[in-house]
Amino acid sequence: MIYLSRKDVEDLDMTMKDVLAAVDNGFRLKGLGKTEMPPKPGIHPRPNAFVHAMPAYVQEVESAGLKWVSGYPSNPDKGLPYITGLLVLNDPATGIPIAVMDCAWITAMRTGASVGVAAKYLARPDSRTAAILGCGVQARTSLMALVETLPQLKEVLCCDAFPAATKRFMDEMGQRFPKLNLISCASPADMMKGADVVVTAIPIVAKPKPPLEAGMLKVGGLGVSLDYDSAWTSAAMKECDRFCSDDVGQLLSTKEHGVYFSGVPKKIYADLGELAAGKKKGRTNDREKIFAMNMGIAVDDMVTAKVLYERAVKTGAGVRLPL
Ligand SMILES: NC(=O)c1ccc[n+]([C@@H]2O[C@H](COP(=O)([O-])OP(=O)(O)OC[C@H]3O[C@@H](n4cnc5c(N)ncnc54)[C@H](O)[C@@H]3O)[C@@H](O)[C@H]2O)c1
Repeated sequence: MIYLSRKDVEDLDMTMKDVLAAVDNGFRLKGLGKTEMPPKPGIHPRPNAFVHAMPAYVQEVESAGLKWVSGYPSNPDKGLPYITGLLVLNDPATGIPIAVMDCAWITAMRTGASVGVAAKYLARPDSRTAAILGCGVQARTSLMALVETLPQLKEVLCCDAFPAATKRFMDEMGQRFPKLNLISCASPADMMKGADVVVTAIPIVAKPKPPLEAGMLKVGGLGVSLDYDSAWTSAAMKECDRFCSDDVGQLLSTKEHGVYFSGVPKKIYADLGELAAGKKKGRTNDREKIFAMNMGIAVDDMVTAKVLYERAVKTGAGVRLPL
């Protein structure tokens, strides 16, 4: 079995373009019914904290495995990352574990890629301005993916509850993308002004006070939530002409538990798999307001992990361990 630490994973040089291609293909296979992915069960050892088990099998890519990932909102205060965890890959032919790897990088990159896939099908292709609420890890990869998918992106409106976090984000992303104009916004309402694509990535809490209200998303805009219903009011989600998700089954199953999603619209138009497989149309005009609730799915993890595994086999990266 191969063990890949976070550094091993990062050193395999998988770019956002590579991850986007793998994740878009994963969504396509999901849309074609070629994946098996039960809704994720979880445990909650601390208030607002989770540890989720995320299994999936993806045909054709031949990737099977499980991600065991935690999110602890209290970690940043201790100097620890919010998201940590491991991913196990199994040989689909025998079930034998073939790799264990750190999943923080994979989670961040495939989450960003899911935003890129949503933008590919649902944003106006001429989108010039993105807005980001919560300038943390997922925000960084989301912006990396938007740069790949929206060729006319020029401006990014940045907002975080902590000005130092906004500054760090702007410094880092400004260096990475010198042609982008990064602007710090004093409030979520300011950040929404003129934004063609809005990504929210603040901590998920059970009883949020969402700052983004109806009327704030511009006509023709796309809202993408990575933080359940923590950032958007029910009215803000319901005013959108179409509501999409990365996995409708998981959304409804999470909603059944009664903690999240009570405010999402009853009518869900499509999941990203149906869009990627061409079973349903993406954006059809420049005036629609569209919403995508991306909760994060195991298919995205497994297709990304399979590419990393193949690269590690080829390059000899990581440590070989006996079972
Ligand atoms: N949908 C997915 O696939 C997926 C995957 C991973 C993480 N997530 C979620 O994305 C969110 C962000 O995760 P992360 O790893 O980027 O965390 P992070 O801690 O790196 O970033 C969160 C940022 O939000 C800021 N913040 C906190 N409260 C805020 C508020 N009320 N208003 C504005 N900013 C605020 C923090 O200062 C921080 O900069 C979490 O909710 C996490 O569960 C979703």
